[in-house]
Amino acid sequence: MSRKRVAVLISGRGSNMAALIEAAKDKTYPAEIALVLSNRSDAKGLATAREVGLATAVVDHTRFGKDREAFEHALQRELEDRRIDIVCLAGFMRLLTPWFVSRWQDRMINIHPALLPAFKGLDTHAKALAAGVKIHGATVHFVVPEMDSGPVIAQGALGVRDDDTAETLGARVLAIEHRIYPLALRLVAEGRVRVEGNRCRIEGASANDHILLAPAIEA
Ligand code: GRF
Repeated sequence: MSRKRVAVLISGRGSNMAALIEAAKDKTYPAEIALVLSNRSDAKGLATAREVGLATAVVDHTRFGKDREAFEHALQRELEDRRIDIVCLAGFMRLLTPWFVSRWQDRMINIHPALLPAFKGLDTHAKALAAGVKIHGATVHFVVPEMDSGPVIAQGALGVRDDDTAETLGARVLAIEHRIYPLALRLVAEGRVRVEGNRCRIEGASANDHILLAPAIEA
């Protein structure tokens, strides 16, 4: 089976991008990173991608003013030039219009640092602490026009500690992100994810029946 050609869209650090690059080093992984694309020329992740010899491109959104579609047409051209099959948003800080989203329906995925549908938007770890939840985590989902919505492909969860700050909690969630993003991309690239309404059915995968309880107490 030929590997799917993936573009990773970033705006900053690119640690999730790095996790995808690492996974794709394995020749049996069903996707290859064919392009790393950023809307910011100073995105740290671009340097990481270049260091390992990956193709990179920058489409600076500020060149297009308020014209989101013109920006997205430029993105679309880059993706078509590289014959991209799947788009992975990884800390890409631009809202995408229905025009662009519909072009990539069921072929564009995003990672969000919370257990959606809880805590959409920014500052998810602070929001989780403020809400007092005991379990928090991360989600990979298909992108739909509404922000931080769309069928969930994979989630990972952990227990919140009493002494957690947004930073400590965010660091532990990030480690989960780096595990679930390569997993979710694998499933999508292998064609094992069937979207039915707001639900993904995943061929050959079972639910993990281990129960995550937080807090844990000594017996
Ligand atoms: C991650 O927390 C991701 O979930 C969110 O933005 C952050 C990007 O981090 N969408 P990185 O650039 O992948 O390190």
